[in-house]
Amino acid sequence: MGKGESKQGTQQGRRIAIVTGAASGIGRAIAQELAGRDIDVIVADINEAGGNQTVEMIGKAGGRAGFRKLDVTDAEQVEALVQDAYRQYGRLDYMFNNAGISMYGELYDMTLPHWQRIMEVNLWGVIHGIQAAYPIMKKQGFGHIANTSSATAMGPAPTAAAYATTKHAILGLTTSLHYEAESFGVKVSALCPAFVDTPIFAASEGINMDKAKIEAQMNKQKKMSPEEFARLAVKGLERNQSVVCPMPLRRTMDVFFALFPAAHRSLMRLVCRVSREARSVEPVTEAAPIQPTRSSG
Ligand SMILES: NC(=O)c1ccc[n+]([C@@H]2O[C@H](COP(=O)([O-])OP(=O)(O)OC[C@H]3O[C@@H](n4cnc5c(N)ncnc54)[C@H](O)[C@@H]3O)[C@@H](O)[C@H]2O)c1
Repeated sequence: MGKGESKQGTQQGRRIAIVTGAASGIGRAIAQELAGRDIDVIVADINEAGGNQTVEMIGKAGGRAGFRKLDVTDAEQVEALVQDAYRQYGRLDYMFNNAGISMYGELYDMTLPHWQRIMEVNLWGVIHGIQAAYPIMKKQGFGHIANTSSATAMGPAPTAAAYATTKHAILGLTTSLHYEAESFGVKVSALCPAFVDTPIFAASEGINMDKAKIEAQMNKQKKMSPEEFARLAVKGLERNQSVVCPMPLRRTMDVFFALFPAAHRSLMRLVCRVSREARSVEPVTEAAPIQPTRSSG
């Protein structure tokens, strides 16, 4: 078998990547990074103007890209896009399930429509992408699926519980599939960004939260550029890492919190208190901490 051939198919022709959520931020930067590596990119996003802008930027830099309007919550649209790309190129190299939204608020303020919205975009959007791309990649015997989770998936996220739910689920799905798919020559990785400088925070829905206060809190964080994240993410994929989490000091923090779990609990309580300061309706009365029970005997 030649170097460019797989078990079931040949890797001939130009490489092709689909990137959802590529009209902005991390998706756009990933699309640019891939195009810079001589990969054709389908920029897929619900935002037409932003998507066309990404295509224009890639074209100006000498890369090849096309735009496809896509709502990742619609399984049929995702399936049709993936099939069209495969028909046109005869192969599918990368599927980046990256589109996502963010939502902040106390859980007791969230309604079922809030839950449905964030689950549909963040989690079902990723599932739709996998359902469409994985059978093709399995059949051809190669390909890489990259799902954007979040550093949030590494632990608790008080006042962003629904967002955290979706990102934990993506991480579980991706790391499980990583091992199932490798028998078929298919690679699967989770991207876990943290504080990347994109419009996601400005566009996020703050449920009974003062967005200006949230943004002020966010702006205190040192942020990574989307281009830097994309460069590190693609490097991680080249190494076939199941989880790519290029977060400064992450390993140090993992070790520190494993050794001192009480410090992690204190930090999470602080995060919860500080996030609540951005609440825009009546102040939250916190319940008194539960005291350890003493046996009377
Ligand atoms: N920026 C960060 O620090 C950060 C941290 C952790 C995780 N993430 C994740 O990274 C991914 C990209 O986020 P970003 O920061 O680049 O945000 P962004 O807002 O810049 O980009 C998100 C893109 O997704 C698109 N999108 C939203 N709903 C869609 C839908 N239904 N169908 C198709 N496209 C849709 C938007 O139009 C937008 O172009 C998201 O999944 C986000 O949760 C980002």
